Amino acid sequence: MLRINDNFNRLQASYLFVEIDRRVDAFTAKNPDADLIKLGIGDVTMPLPPSVIREFHRGVDEQASADSFQGYGPGRGYDFLREAIAQVDFASRGVSVSPDEIFISDGAKCDSGNFQEILSPDATVAVPDPVYPVYVDSNVMAGRAGVWKEGRYDRLVYLDGTPENGFVPSPPSKPVDAIYLCFPNNPTGAVATAAQLSAWVEYARSHRSIILFDAAYEQFIRDPSIPHSIFEIEGADEVAVEFRSLSKTAGFTGTRLAYTVVPQKLTGTDSDGRSHAIWDLWNRRQSTKFNGVSFPVQRAAAAVFTEEGQREIQELSSYYLENARLIRSAMEEVGYRCFGGENSPYVWVESGGDSWEMFSRLLEKAAVVVTPGAGFGTCGEGFVRISAFNDREKVTAAIERLRNNL
Ligand code: MLT
Repeated sequence: MLRINDNFNRLQASYLFVEIDRRVDAFTAKNPDADLIKLGIGDVTMPLPPSVIREFHRGVDEQASADSFQGYGPGRGYDFLREAIAQVDFASRGVSVSPDEIFISDGAKCDSGNFQEILSPDATVAVPDPVYPVYVDSNVMAGRAGVWKEGRYDRLVYLDGTPENGFVPSPPSKPVDAIYLCFPNNPTGAVATAAQLSAWVEYARSHRSIILFDAAYEQFIRDPSIPHSIFEIEGADEVAVEFRSLSKTAGFTGTRLAYTVVPQKLTGTDSDGRSHAIWDLWNRRQSTKFNGVSFPVQRAAAAVFTEEGQREIQELSSYYLENARLIRSAMEEVGYRCFGGENSPYVWVESGGDSWEMFSRLLEKAAVVVTPGAGFGTCGEGFVRISAFNDREKVTAAIERLRNNL
């Protein structure tokens, strides 16, 4: 008889965005003519930039001829891409990351979900609340989260994000083994200062913990004082890994390319007290379970790190940031307290009441999809997240409808 992994029974309901899709599908089945505007899941709508498309085509053409054809690629990704990333995303900001420390992958969701596999099954894990659900659910599947009691898993350490701390929680008073941090934050749009990140690095160094730093939204930072990478903080290369993605940065949600930085200096200890390089473990994990991103997609991605590509992605993120600004100012005008939306594509709106109720009301009365804060954790209740990822025309239409239906 097939026995399943019982930890799956401990997961709460379905994955947040699947549940939203289910409710939206039920609504459209009843209202087939509704002109729905989706500001729920953060999915980009603008096409890939011209330089990316050009290189994407070149990569496809190269696969058509025997002398440039590529079979299995190098496990961690092609040198041309990893070298470009090391230079443009790090060296240019004064951060030393070697191309060897960069692992190309097909998504920051996959990497942030998979990374916990190299932690001990009984490692103590801290997650922010509100939280990107992948950090929690992947640990639940691995049996590391404990049981669900009164709205939380009893073995996770929750770091409360509130208006009072600006949704940037401080380190906990007790030691934990692993900490997920995401800045600019999904879902609240909060950003962390160098001093706030330094406090985390100091905590991780003193407790010998690991910081799993999700920087998928760094491209949206405009405030020059805000760090783009945890590795801008001294000593972070001994305690952190960083997840990056081209999804929101360069329009790759449907094309798929991300990368994870695993510093050579980062180590962990086994149950016999022996030290191991985390790089070796992640390399072993990836080479066993992953065959890399397709060659044409890596060619396309490399275009992002050229001068032309950097200019194009700056324009893309500015476009979505302007959407965020419009959404935030409209919501503030009608009297809602808002967070984020300044160095981030997400506007976090204090709804006051039940966030699923507000989700349903906006869906039914305005045909606008937002994300209920409760889906991100108990501290998310009383908020909704509005995504700026859509065309300007749709965003302005949605704003009009929100104004009239709030
Ligand atoms: C979100 O809306 O939170 C993101 O699009 C989800 C993701 O990137 O997986």
